[in-house]
Amino acid sequence: MGQQMSDQRPIGVIGVGWVGLVTAGCFADLGREVIAMDVNAAKIDALERGEVPIHEPGLEGLLERNRERLRLTTEMSEVLDPARLLFCCVDTPPTYSGDADLSRVESVVSQLPESGEHALVMKSTVPAGTGRAIRRDHPSLTYVSCPEFLKEGSAVEDFLHPDRVVIGADPGDEWAADEVEAIYRPLGGELVRTDVASAEMIKLAANAFLATKISFINEIANVCEEVRADVAEVAKGMGLDERIGPQFLRPGIGYGGSCFPKDVSALKQLAGNSGYHFQLLTAVIEVNELQKRRVISKLQKHLGSLVGREIALLGLAFKPDTDDMREASSLVLAGRLQADGARVRAYDPVAEDAARPLMSGVDFSDSALRAVEGADAVVLVTEWPEFAELDWAEVASRMRGDLVIDGRNALRSELVTAAGLAYEGIGRH
Ligand SMILES: NC(=O)c1ccc[n+]([C@@H]2O[C@H](COP(=O)([O-])OP(=O)(O)OC[C@H]3O[C@@H](n4cnc5c(N)ncnc54)[C@H](O)[C@@H]3O)[C@@H](O)[C@H]2O)c1
Repeated sequence: MGQQMSDQRPIGVIGVGWVGLVTAGCFADLGREVIAMDVNAAKIDALERGEVPIHEPGLEGLLERNRERLRLTTEMSEVLDPARLLFCCVDTPPTYSGDADLSRVESVVSQLPESGEHALVMKSTVPAGTGRAIRRDHPSLTYVSCPEFLKEGSAVEDFLHPDRVVIGADPGDEWAADEVEAIYRPLGGELVRTDVASAEMIKLAANAFLATKISFINEIANVCEEVRADVAEVAKGMGLDERIGPQFLRPGIGYGGSCFPKDVSALKQLAGNSGYHFQLLTAVIEVNELQKRRVISKLQKHLGSLVGREIALLGLAFKPDTDDMREASSLVLAGRLQADGARVRAYDPVAEDAARPLMSGVDFSDSALRAVEGADAVVLVTEWPEFAELDWAEVASRMRGDLVIDGRNALRSELVTAAGLAYEGIGRH
């Protein structure tokens, strides 16, 4: 079956979201013909008109220069006929229980013919054991796990310059893994060939470890506040130890986004479903939830009651360079502030459209300076570079109060205080 595959065959990409669109564009950029399919007809129409539905640096140009090699469709049959390798990039959101919702993956699998000609290459993040279960229920289907590690905000760059490419296949399916490896080889990066369950586990473990590092440094920051130490100094001193490394040691108001919260909880649930209580991840999740709310106590410490207070949020997306609002800390923060009687106004350079339907009662401004007008306090939520460049004297002259909470330790405190404002970061004194 698969041994007859030809390099010349188009590659199928199913699900054209953050991962699928970047994957399709990058494969086309590598010179491959790609057929990308999505059930969302409006998205496909927009892409066909040349509109890119997400904010991702470099993506628009990449898609534009590869238009001829990238076909878009809403019909699965248009992918299945020409393509043999099918990269599955559909979303796997959390269910209420915290398990991964695999209904979209199941819908894709149910449409694949039993002819044995196709190989499903799973890029969606799925619980370890998913590939084995799909293989068991569809014995003629070839299955490869190829988890995705790109980061929103630098997705194209990450895809084209991976640290590593993980490819998992079980006995009998190695031919398809070889094909996947051949596609990725020109990109460089360490190739990790392994079995399917281990590949699935690598993705979950990597995200859980990164989230653990964030919750760890957030707790260190909270202790620093108690003992009047500076977490930036602590993180620097820790990060120089090569066993620890400097990455992901920046405290803030909690991680969010489409991956960490759901993947950490999916791994915790996966362990629990297998009879193992993953204690560490329970704490990681709890610390993250509490961290989002610490801003409220910082505001109360300075302002007392928040009833009637005007609070300006700078940045709404879960991180800079994206308009993704999934699990953004700003959502929890705005909700808590409103529940405590505060009025919330907000500005984000690109995420307003995505944020509006999720944040009722919030006043949106079209610039940071407009958002701070008449505010009792300003909270930096997302560390967009433009906020570090703000004219703080101008900010001070427009505010009613004088409090700046730097939720990402992204501002130069001396510039803020030189303008006569009170500065409070995370774990800094
Ligand atoms: N976003 C990231 O940074 C990132 C990074 C690494 C891994 N992942 C994982 O990759 C997967 C996709 O994430 P995303 O952020 O790209 O999701 P997304 O929500 O942006 O995109 C998913 C797309 O799949 C489409 N879709 C849903 N069901 C479909 C079906 N049956 N057939 C065809 N299309 C269908 C949706 O319409 C949507 O366009 C998830 O499992 C996620 O955990 C995401």
